Amino acid sequence: MRRQRLFPFALAAIASAASALAEQRASVVPGAHDALLTAGPQAARIGELWNLTVFICTAVFCAVLLGLVFALWRSGRRHDDGPPDLSSVGRHERGPFLGVVWSVGVSIALLLVLVVASVVTDRALARASLDNAVNIDVTGHQWWWELSYRGESPSDNFNAVNELHVPVGRPVVLRLMADDVIHSLWVPSLAGKKDLIPGRTATMSFRADRPGRYRGQCAEFCGYQHAFMAFEVIADPPAQYDAWAATQRQPAAEPADATARRGRDVFLGSACIMCHAIEGTIAGARKGPDLSHVGGRSTIAAGTLPNRPAELARWIANPHDFKPGVNMPATSLSSADMNALVSYLGSLK
Ligand code: CUA
Repeated sequence: MRRQRLFPFALAAIASAASALAEQRASVVPGAHDALLTAGPQAARIGELWNLTVFICTAVFCAVLLGLVFALWRSGRRHDDGPPDLSSVGRHERGPFLGVVWSVGVSIALLLVLVVASVVTDRALARASLDNAVNIDVTGHQWWWELSYRGESPSDNFNAVNELHVPVGRPVVLRLMADDVIHSLWVPSLAGKKDLIPGRTATMSFRADRPGRYRGQCAEFCGYQHAFMAFEVIADPPAQYDAWAATQRQPAAEPADATARRGRDVFLGSACIMCHAIEGTIAGARKGPDLSHVGGRSTIAAGTLPNRPAELARWIANPHDFKPGVNMPATSLSSADMNALVSYLGSLK
């Protein structure tokens, strides 16, 4: 009896928690996540293969349905009363026999067309020009993406997290690695899917021909928060990309006011530095995302929350409210310390 009374309350509590979470997440405005909205040559090739496959499969589906309707229409067993007409059993019928032979032949031919089209697409992707490419190492973690841009010289290298800025019109070569379990990188508007496997290195290349934000997603189940391991490619015009990259190469900005200075002291005096790095300070841990330029990102927690002070504070206070199972522990701070910390992190553009 008691359990029956508690049940509606439990349901209501779950529903309100779910709607609060959905509201938070709905305020993240993602970029396009659409394999048919292609923004580069690699995705366009894959799109053509998709169109051919859909066309052939639709034609085969319609042909099978037509054959079925025709067979039903020709069937002699149209009446419920009286015994079924079994006169065709055991009699060789040339028409249906030829129909089956033709269907098998056409099916094999169409499957061969799809195989050839797949191989041609794969070769075209492998042959795409990679001159003057931007080289980036991507490491999958539970549940975020570490990005290491590799330049001509070591001084050109820099790190980023979850938001992959690329210049429009230039090829991008990604080296894919994983830190813990298998992940899979998928940005459907730009390229196909590729797995990130611990102990191995894979490569993937694409080019973005139109500026914009293209959403990506981990496409291989990698644990509790797999669905919230999002990713974004931001294709900038070349000058804007160069300016962004120049900013990323700089160490973190110095705190501009007393609140931000206090925020830095809170950061350096708390458990944050056990996992996170901020270039230019003593924080150099690499377990969690690099925060040197966290204020410049549009989302936090791998695309889960908008990067605004209120959300950042709630995330730091208890990440498990948003991503149960995440490695980051809850942090208990006074509200003044939390405000200072959030102000400092927000200033790191
Ligand atoms: Cu990483 Cu799923």
